[in-house]
Amino acid sequence: MNPAGFSVTWPGRGEPVPPGAHGPSPQIYALVPASAGGSAGPTITAGSSDPAGSAAPACASATTGSAAGAVLVGDGARIAEAHPALQTHGLGPVGATQLVYLDPPYNRGGSFDGYHDNMPRHEWLGYIEARLLVARDLLADTGTVWVHLDDAEAHRVRCVLDEVFGVEAFIADLTVESNPKGRQLDRFFAGSHDRLMVYARNPEKVALVGGIAAAVDPSDFPHVDSDGVNYRLLPLRNTNKRFNPRTTPTMSYPLHGDPDTGAVSVDPAPGMVEILPVFGDLTPAVWRWSRDRARERVDELVCRTVRGRSGPRVDIYQRDRHEAGRIKKLKSIWLSQEVGSTDTARAELRAAGVDGFRTPKPEALMRRIVELATGPGDLVVDLFAGSGTTAVAARDLGRRWVVIERNPDTVRNVLLPRLTAGGT
Ligand SMILES: C[S@@+](CC[C@H](N)C(=O)[O-])C[C@H]1O[C@@H](n2cnc3c(N)ncnc32)[C@H](O)[C@@H]1O
Repeated sequence: MNPAGFSVTWPGRGEPVPPGAHGPSPQIYALVPASAGGSAGPTITAGSSDPAGSAAPACASATTGSAAGAVLVGDGARIAEAHPALQTHGLGPVGATQLVYLDPPYNRGGSFDGYHDNMPRHEWLGYIEARLLVARDLLADTGTVWVHLDDAEAHRVRCVLDEVFGVEAFIADLTVESNPKGRQLDRFFAGSHDRLMVYARNPEKVALVGGIAAAVDPSDFPHVDSDGVNYRLLPLRNTNKRFNPRTTPTMSYPLHGDPDTGAVSVDPAPGMVEILPVFGDLTPAVWRWSRDRARERVDELVCRTVRGRSGPRVDIYQRDRHEAGRIKKLKSIWLSQEVGSTDTARAELRAAGVDGFRTPKPEALMRRIVELATGPGDLVVDLFAGSGTTAVAARDLGRRWVVIERNPDTVRNVLLPRLTAGGT
């Protein structure tokens, strides 16, 4: 039970699973040397032995020194067994991973290239719980786990996530448009989205950026400043009606301004009028900035006459500049125009000269996740590697990465050829 005292149960929960039931102990099958940096795959040192049969590590010693990435074959839940071998390449994941991504079989009863998706519900939930516990051990204090599912099982897994990571560790339950046309073969509604659940290892220390530069719309900044930088005018008044001089007295104070020149002062000055924050109906409001902040950043403030509901009045605005590096928070619905779809993902595989994997994720989606959750050089782990989209995104963004896939044929025929081709 987690510290919030929340727990869930289901038939068979906690029953031991026979060793090897979900795949063998992981073997390092291929390494990308650190010197390869973000470049494409010809530098991969792939195992000489067949990952299907070999009991010995395929190429744990093929390269010494630090590696940028590793492909493992085996059961993702047993990744810690490969920790010592990965450690010798600077990729030891336990307690050091910034992003753990899980894109498991969704348990919808399908059968795909190389894997089945039809476990009894309670068994599947236990299988997911085991991997969430592993993810928790892998994560650094600043890290996050991202679990990709659809609406068939997501609500049950949310409960398990709450228990494993803690209710207060919840960050987001994102909706990702995966099939913009909708699956017309579905019985009632044409399914078109996935769920992407994000939890922190430690909500006090988590390092996650919720926004990206590409989400900033330049047309939101219509004015041009004297140095050529675009800006917009934001009311300095707090527009949230919950805040007023009674609830937030320290944010209620007079500013002074001249609507003809635009000049603003915290203290009274010749030619300036006193301005108190008010809502449109002239009821008292409060500023968004404290008096000290207004004094420090007075150059960013502008005095203007506005035509309000109750006639013209003088108000204060913040000149909000579109500086380089500015980011905007992402919305919790991610559209396929921004992050691609399953069709896009399949086209990306074909463009890399690879076929035969039906459930890849699009590269733009994985790039977005990796960018939000990690910084350069951070370690990314994918416990259900599939076609290797996470490896491609992490490699292209200069992160270190470890991906593990149970099916050796998928590694041999899809993942490695894709990495070697250098992605799309
Ligand atoms: C939905 S796919 C992942 C797709 C991947 N995100 C991509 O972009 O290609 C799930 C993958 O997990 C693999 N898998 C299933 N159980 C596994 C396990 N216990 N350990 C490692 N991989 C597993 C399956 O073979 C399949 O390739």
